[in-house]
Amino acid sequence: MTHRIGVIRGDGTGPEVVGEGLKVLEAVRDGFDVELVDFDLGADRYLRTGDVLPDEELEDLGSCDAIFLGAVGDPRVRPGILERDLLLKIRFGLDQWVNLRPVVRYPGVQTLLPSHTEEDVDLVVVRENSEGLYTGAGGFHRKGTRHEVAIQESINTRHGVERIVRYAFELAASASRRRKLTLVHKTNVLTFAGDLYQRVVDELGSEFPGVETDYVHVDAACIYFLDSPSRFDVIVTDNMFGDIITDLGAMIQGGMGIAAGGNINPDGVSMFEPIGGTAPSETGKGTINPLAAIGAMEMLLRQLGETAAAERVDRGIRLATGRMKSMRAGEMGFTTTEVGDLVVEGATA
Ligand code: IPM
Ligand code: MN
Repeated sequence: MTHRIGVIRGDGTGPEVVGEGLKVLEAVRDGFDVELVDFDLGADRYLRTGDVLPDEELEDLGSCDAIFLGAVGDPRVRPGILERDLLLKIRFGLDQWVNLRPVVRYPGVQTLLPSHTEEDVDLVVVRENSEGLYTGAGGFHRKGTRHEVAIQESINTRHGVERIVRYAFELAASASRRRKLTLVHKTNVLTFAGDLYQRVVDELGSEFPGVETDYVHVDAACIYFLDSPSRFDVIVTDNMFGDIITDLGAMIQGGMGIAAGGNINPDGVSMFEPIGGTAPSETGKGTINPLAAIGAMEMLLRQLGETAAAERVDRGIRLATGRMKSMRAGEMGFTTTEVGDLVVEGATA
């Protein structure tokens, strides 16, 4: 069995963390082969050639079994270009409609919240990844004049909401979770989109009688992430709220250095990435934490059905966090490659 994995190393510290993810993949690989297909995408390519992501390359990405992405973005490129024409083009183009972001506190990890125990933080955010405020619907009227109007619309379809809520229910009902699903939204103000989400949760709830459902406004969810995260098991939320609360989620698990996520098309090609950015100030120094990328590799292996290999990566991450001083870049007590080596040690012990 050979898995074809598209690799986008990207910009900044992307190539460094991808290198460690691939090193770990090679160490845990057993009983299957991989074919790595490198894609030269990101700021350098754009600045060199003017191309962001040509349609043929999107098609090539779509022919892989999975995609492993480092990070894209560069201070030399105006905000919005790489985000919309590269990252979002892949998410939308390959219909990766689930953004799955586990928030796990690994052993030995210190966070800004000393009152949290390790057991307190174990939740997963199921972020809608194909619509909401991210579709680019809207526009300007009379741009640049004193009477300018800027409209940015949130698109929420019955189909889109139903598939993400069903995915979240199925996850909450699975053996790995604690059978609780919380809808996070802002139904008191977003009375159309929020109402659709709430009705779909209520309707599908009858198909999952073993799953307890709850509702929390997004602003209150920010309080609970800090104050009582153990109330959450599986969270389902829209694209924008999911983007915001998963940065907060990263902080309660120990920082962006450890937060991984997947852009999943359950019937197609999924893409896994550290949820943080390119960290320009750390680039090339060997100081960046590769664990988020390695966690993304673990998720990629799970998605490919390589559960044993994924479990090995998990053991490796746990050994590494137990030995590292901090999850912060430059304060880990190890270099980037040494952290990768610790994971390999734990994964192959
Ligand atoms: C993320 C990022 C992206 C998003 C940006 C870079 C478009 O913040 O993956 O969370 O908003 O989804
Ligand atoms: Mn984000």
